[in-house]
Amino acid sequence: MKALVWHGKEDIRCDTVTDPEIQDPRDAIIKVTSCAICGSDLHLFHNFIPGMLPGDIMGHETMGEVVEVGSGVDGKLKKGDRIVVPFTIICGECDQCKRGNFSVCETTNRKRHLADKAFGHATAGLFGYTHLTGGYPGGQAEYLRVPYADATHIKVPPGIPDEQLLFLSDIFPTGWQAAVQCDIEPTDTVAIWGCGPVGQMAIRSAILLGANQVIAIDCLPERLSMAEAGGATTINFETESVLERLKELTDGKGPEKCIDCVGMESHVMASLPDTLLDRAKQMVMLESDRPHVLREMIYVCRPGGIISVPGVYSGLSDMLPMGAFMNKGLTMRTGQTHVNRWTDDLLCRIEEGEIDPSFVITHTVPLEQGPEMYQVFRDKRDSCVKVVLKP
Ligand SMILES: NC(=O)c1ccc[n+]([C@@H]2O[C@H](COP(=O)([O-])OP(=O)(O)OC[C@H]3O[C@@H](n4cnc5c(N)ncnc54)[C@H](O)[C@@H]3O)[C@@H](O)[C@H]2O)c1
Ligand SMILES: [Zn+2]
Ligand SMILES: [Zn+2]
Repeated sequence: MKALVWHGKEDIRCDTVTDPEIQDPRDAIIKVTSCAICGSDLHLFHNFIPGMLPGDIMGHETMGEVVEVGSGVDGKLKKGDRIVVPFTIICGECDQCKRGNFSVCETTNRKRHLADKAFGHATAGLFGYTHLTGGYPGGQAEYLRVPYADATHIKVPPGIPDEQLLFLSDIFPTGWQAAVQCDIEPTDTVAIWGCGPVGQMAIRSAILLGANQVIAIDCLPERLSMAEAGGATTINFETESVLERLKELTDGKGPEKCIDCVGMESHVMASLPDTLLDRAKQMVMLESDRPHVLREMIYVCRPGGIISVPGVYSGLSDMLPMGAFMNKGLTMRTGQTHVNRWTDDLLCRIEEGEIDPSFVITHTVPLEQGPEMYQVFRDKRDSCVKVVLKP
């Protein structure tokens, strides 16, 4: 089959690889009908997250049709079922899965010794996302093996196009969880850094959850326009002072809730000197992340507020203002998304027409054009916000 394969830093190719097969009774194989490129894939593209090996198949936003099921799938899935595959591989049985903490499932990371060392504890297995999370082949491919398939799936009805359902795999529940973690009150201002696909979903979610005001921050005009269309007031951090504008828009109080939809690769700019220092430290392996947004959020958040961090960080972040964080009594909530915790609610909202997540798609191309689209999405060329690939 054809698949997008990681060969090294900034080197992803569309290769012919062996078709996946059932390896365990709980496996299923799907024929992929749509998959997408995520901002998290860019961290792997740049080789910022350790544990990728040449030959690894990329991709964790995938949906398709079940073509084969193992004997242990136990009637939960059958040939012909249409499923979206959550990016977190879950067993459905462990203590964490029972609590709904699916992204820290205690069973599915088959390389837990690596993650135990890096993070203190292993987290769930993830598709197409480094050997720290199990080294499972991803879904930017014609076929995907879904381990623990009896639990790791979202069954979706016919009649709704792939484009409206695909993002149940990751970015829609990710934006949603980021907003839910803010415990939004009707009087709250929610400030959201980053208007990429995750930021766009967080903006819509914060509005659906009843925020009084949503403020979105980025520097890319087409992404800011999309944020505005979703109901946000926008700040362009290249031409305006984020701190001053946020104070102005909140009568000097600061936003009650702040969401980081940027993560470890905050833009490096001469006007933001801390980002230059982070970049220099990254180059000599003294720091793994560029946490400019975390610093800004801690500084500007209203005392007693909540900071929600769906943006991915990989290791060590320097110069976080713990003094401000502690003395202002802030709370931070974060995590890879517990996808299946939100599925029933979000699928229902799509079916009822409350939200159509396909608004974010700007590019739909054949899988073969994947390698080129990694560059376009990374460089934000051609007003690219979200790429869907069709195998
Ligand atoms: N927690 C999860 O489960 C989960 C799931 C999916 C994605 N993510 C993470 O979410 C983050 C965003 O993903 P995406 O797909 O939207 O990526 P993206 O790269 O398309 O978007 C990031 C956006 O941040 C903007 N940005 C950069 N520096 C900024 C700054 N200083 N202030 C404000 N905006 C800034 C960029 O211009 C860009 O539009 C990534 O870190 C990704 O890994 C996490
Ligand atoms: Zn993702
Ligand atoms: Zn589990």
